[in-house]
Amino acid sequence: MTSWWHGGIGYEIYPRSFADSNDDGIGDINGIKGRLPYLSWLGINAIWIAPFYQSPGLDHGYDVSDYRAINPIHGTLADFDELVADAHGRNIRVIVDIVPNHSSSQHRWFQEALKGRDQPHRDYYIWRDPGPDGGPPNNWVSHFGGPAWTLDEASNQYYCHLFLPEQPDLNWSNPALRAEFDDILRFWCDRGADGFRIDVAHGLIKDPQFRNNPQRVPIQDPDNPTEVFNAFEHLYDMDQDGTVDVYRRWNQVVEPYEAVLIGESNPRSLDRVARYVTNGSLHTVFYLEPGWIHWKPEDLLEKIETVHRSTDTGISWVIDNHDNPRSATRFGGGDVGRSRSLAVMTFMMALGGFPFLWEGQELGLTDAELDASNLTDPIATRNEHGVGRDTTRTVMPWDSSHANGFSKSAEPWLPSAQRTPAETVAVQRDDKSSWLCKHRDLITTRRSHPDLWKATPQWLETPPGAVRALRRGKMLALANWKPDMFSIELPPGKWSIIYHSGSAEHEDVSGRIDLVAESTYLLVAST
Ligand code: NOJ
Repeated sequence: MTSWWHGGIGYEIYPRSFADSNDDGIGDINGIKGRLPYLSWLGINAIWIAPFYQSPGLDHGYDVSDYRAINPIHGTLADFDELVADAHGRNIRVIVDIVPNHSSSQHRWFQEALKGRDQPHRDYYIWRDPGPDGGPPNNWVSHFGGPAWTLDEASNQYYCHLFLPEQPDLNWSNPALRAEFDDILRFWCDRGADGFRIDVAHGLIKDPQFRNNPQRVPIQDPDNPTEVFNAFEHLYDMDQDGTVDVYRRWNQVVEPYEAVLIGESNPRSLDRVARYVTNGSLHTVFYLEPGWIHWKPEDLLEKIETVHRSTDTGISWVIDNHDNPRSATRFGGGDVGRSRSLAVMTFMMALGGFPFLWEGQELGLTDAELDASNLTDPIATRNEHGVGRDTTRTVMPWDSSHANGFSKSAEPWLPSAQRTPAETVAVQRDDKSSWLCKHRDLITTRRSHPDLWKATPQWLETPPGAVRALRRGKMLALANWKPDMFSIELPPGKWSIIYHSGSAEHEDVSGRIDLVAESTYLLVAST
């Protein structure tokens, strides 16, 4: 059965940074509403809005203290309702971010749990007695630095937190907690939400025996949480087999609303990615690796092909999000990085699934330069050598007025240097050869050629290296991500190049053609 999101293209919005309607320096829901005409012009089908719920904001909204309330810095429930109505009127669906792995420590449930071992909400969280030496019960570490356990002195028990101590992990083996989240999902669906992006979707279930994770490599820099985290094989704290059972249940809950479930998953290996989308669990999962790696085209294509072969409809393809340096920066910076980023996104448009762009990706934005004193991400502020995520999260450059048109006169919450006119929506919109117009053409191409996501995919034989050819019905996607031109024999017949990431060329071709270096082509068979 085909659902609304098949063939769709999503767009991620970080509400703090997208548009500030009330001039307080923080983006809000009304700001998003004001920019819907732009998103409609861009051609996307859905927006995913990062958390806007009630929150102390220690992880900018990923520490939720009330799952049914909106943080006043972002607006009200009435604003949300209006946003949904306006978006739906423009055929744009609204996907909200749900954070089920942990709540804020300010959540009523955790405050109740702290009152003692016998409290009814105690079991909403994960508590363990100290280890034999009186320290944490095992060697799990937090993504944001330090152990994944904090001692509650009053009860002499540790609670688990895969992120900040102020983000205690919820206990998904508790049926009462499962029931709570069924209601939360229904609450947002009843208000018109069209789906959920599920934060840390791979983290909900923990090993019942709480075994130590094996350490893979020695730790050189204990003050860099990312290095510490990656030094372990996460066999027991994440990606446990029972996780998908939670999503089978969620699937039943959202089915009457036709809402989509999109998991943020970081499984242990490529062959585990598709597990999240089988047998009535999630609809798609983000495959995140292309979102943090640097330019290694051969490796990237190999991984993309492997994941795609495991599921054609189940991946939300992304190269950018709010957690990593921007692809244009990672892939080499400047126009080289921008052009590689577009080449990768172009190929992803032929991979089925439900791809997403990150705000500003369509402008070819590179990371912003930030003054160290302005950093806000806890990875940077709570660790001596943590590389934080602020540089990708600076405000959207709409035009060349104050704060690039984000706020009227307020200083943005994350101050950064003014972007140049060439980086702004206002200038790029009027220039057919801009990164913005190229992304828009790509979106239009995907939407007007459903074979790109609907027809049976067939990987054609190509020589080893950074070259791939994928045929889908009348469409052909050709990636040459080598540093040199590459000559390839087309399948028999006549073809038209309808999109090329490297130029505006549209031409009819057949036989052997030369593919420009580091670019991707979309072709349609001429009849
Ligand atoms: C993943 C989110 O994308 C990230 O921004 C957040 O810090 C962690 N999950 C914890 O919720």
